[in-house]
Amino acid sequence: MPKIPLERILHSQGFGSRKECRVQIRQGRVAIAGEEVDDPFREFDPEGLVFTFDGCDWLFQAKAYLMLNKPAGYECSHQPKHHASIYSLLPPPLNGRGVQSLGRLDEDTTGLLLFSDDGQFIHAISSGKRKVPKTYRVTAKHPLDDDRIATLLAGVQLADEPAVVAAAGCERLGEREVLLTVTEGRYHQVKRMIAAVGNRVEALCRVAVGGLQLPADLAPGEWRWLTAADRECLRAPAGDAAAS
Ligand code: URA
Repeated sequence: MPKIPLERILHSQGFGSRKECRVQIRQGRVAIAGEEVDDPFREFDPEGLVFTFDGCDWLFQAKAYLMLNKPAGYECSHQPKHHASIYSLLPPPLNGRGVQSLGRLDEDTTGLLLFSDDGQFIHAISSGKRKVPKTYRVTAKHPLDDDRIATLLAGVQLADEPAVVAAAGCERLGEREVLLTVTEGRYHQVKRMIAAVGNRVEALCRVAVGGLQLPADLAPGEWRWLTAADRECLRAPAGDAAAS
């Protein structure tokens, strides 16, 4: 990549307007390779560049791709009505560069939520046409017997939906617990499917999108960048990912 001024690099990474970035650089808040850089117009090749802002290291990312382990009690909205916003769990520069969640999880749903500022990527993964499988660990109020599981796999009629909706997979984990995979992203889809077989969701956690699994070491409320391998896994069918 050609070299570009530091103020433009910072701006592209969500650290504020070009003017704000110039001020922050002049205030001595930015360092590269351990050396403070207070000239906003000094040029660097952004590819692979690690810069320090207020003591925190950032790797230049042309586009942002990340995952969050969503805790309960957060709304997937910039204008939440009753709870905090999931965006409040991300550092300001990520919001500054306009990352958006790929689809939404209910306020009480936990687990894997992806974000990006790459419009093509967001569309490719969230578009209903791509039918990217999403897998949820469902804890139900009552036992889910084999008949109910067979019905979920065969398809259930949801109110206000033209066609029946079938689970792409439904694996029993316990008497009241299943791993349910769906390929659509309809409103409250899992809760409505479970209600359609006369039961009720007590807890819902998304554990995978495509073949990308929620990493066991990502605590609720924590986020991390997606690796190239993670992004490749997203294209794989559910359950194909090497457990991260
Ligand atoms: N289905 C639901 O019912 N809720 C979610 O948050 C996600 C899928």
